[in-house]
Amino acid sequence: MLKTAGAAGVGLLIGGSGIGGLLTLTDAKQTKEQSKKDIVPFYGGHQAGITTPAQNHIYFAALDLTATDRNELVKLFKDWTSAAAAMTEGKAVGELSSNEYVPPKDTGEAAGLSAANLTITFGVGPGLFVKNGVDRFGLKSRKPKELNDLPSFEFDALEEQWTGGDICIQACADDLQVAFHAVRNLVRIARGKAVIHWAQSGFQRAKQAGSEKETPRNLFGFKDGSINPDVANQKEMNGQVWVQPGDGQDWLAGGSYMVVRKIQMFIEVWDRSTLREQEATFGRHRDTGAPLGQKNEFDKADFNAKDKNGQPVVPIDSHMRLAKGDGKQQILRRGYSYADGMDPQTGSFDAGLLFIGFQRNPETQFIPMQKRLARNDKLNEYTSHKGSAIFAILPGVERNGSIGETLFL
Ligand code: HEM
Repeated sequence: MLKTAGAAGVGLLIGGSGIGGLLTLTDAKQTKEQSKKDIVPFYGGHQAGITTPAQNHIYFAALDLTATDRNELVKLFKDWTSAAAAMTEGKAVGELSSNEYVPPKDTGEAAGLSAANLTITFGVGPGLFVKNGVDRFGLKSRKPKELNDLPSFEFDALEEQWTGGDICIQACADDLQVAFHAVRNLVRIARGKAVIHWAQSGFQRAKQAGSEKETPRNLFGFKDGSINPDVANQKEMNGQVWVQPGDGQDWLAGGSYMVVRKIQMFIEVWDRSTLREQEATFGRHRDTGAPLGQKNEFDKADFNAKDKNGQPVVPIDSHMRLAKGDGKQQILRRGYSYADGMDPQTGSFDAGLLFIGFQRNPETQFIPMQKRLARNDKLNEYTSHKGSAIFAILPGVERNGSIGETLFL
């Protein structure tokens, strides 16, 4: 009976035989109804997880491909698409089975949980196209010219264990267990074809703890994300975030570029600096988030204003001022804080920012911005870039399509 029971039938078993593990995998009606409001559509012209309001948690993984055959790769993305679509609806991966002699298809830890606004976003790194000079999957001619390992920036302290990756999976959800479950099952499906290179979880203040309308604060206590392109403004998104037809490789139209930087923040050092020093570092007031010299968070900064000593009110080397530059280029920042216990070498917190920025062209957006920051940003006294990666975020797909289909055509 168990073997023939479809997803709807399994609900019948509740309270029956007491086979706990199986029963929890039900997607019985009630759970479904309850969780509908927590579902972010997986299918669409763009992948979710970019303009989606940031969920409470992230679990991010960068994978290296071990597959050598293009067909294996195509199959992997097909399998990932159906699994990801199911999980974002709060469903288990694969059909249920009572076969005691094989491992269950779904690992089970998200059973009974809502979708928690889970989004799963896939991207491909430069190594998918060419690695050590080898055209691994016959895709070399399809490599976007902007998709290259990032140049090294002054004072980078990158560690191989946090850097690069052929593929990325960004899972964001309002529940970390749901996000982890997603990545775990996708990695499991990739067994024999890809392995994890690095992974990082992250958080921001939970929606339950703070108003969604308020800009969240980073681990230095400052509002972070005040100035960002407006995700509701299609024109702005097309200009700054989505790759457009004619930009280069048309298979990527509707996709984006993601830059990820694992940036350690020396929070103990920060905590010993004065409020004045802290505010001068960002160029903003801590309490309100307003630009220095202004009252409110979204007031315009006055970069010409001078203090009584004739010095700029918003210091030349402040993070905000340098990041803004001439203001023409923006990046959609969607990062998360991380806190990974203690750094055993120093006894300090191992904490920081998993910086994630989406953009239409890294050569004119992230790279020049980070060059300015790496050289002069006052914030560098308190941070260290430990990891780095770049990915082309694949365009979205409609139902029955497969992520990456335009690339593999
Ligand atoms: C640990 C590292 C970082 C921290 C703690 C941090 C924090 C902040 C804060 C507090 C602000 C001001 C409020 C806001 O507009 O969100 C800001 C602005 C900004 N940051 Fe960062 N940031 C970091 C790294 C980066 C990096 C690596 C980049 C890109 C290369 C970047 C790009 C920007 C941009 C574009 C702005 C807005 C500037 C404007 O137009 O006013 N940040 N950041």
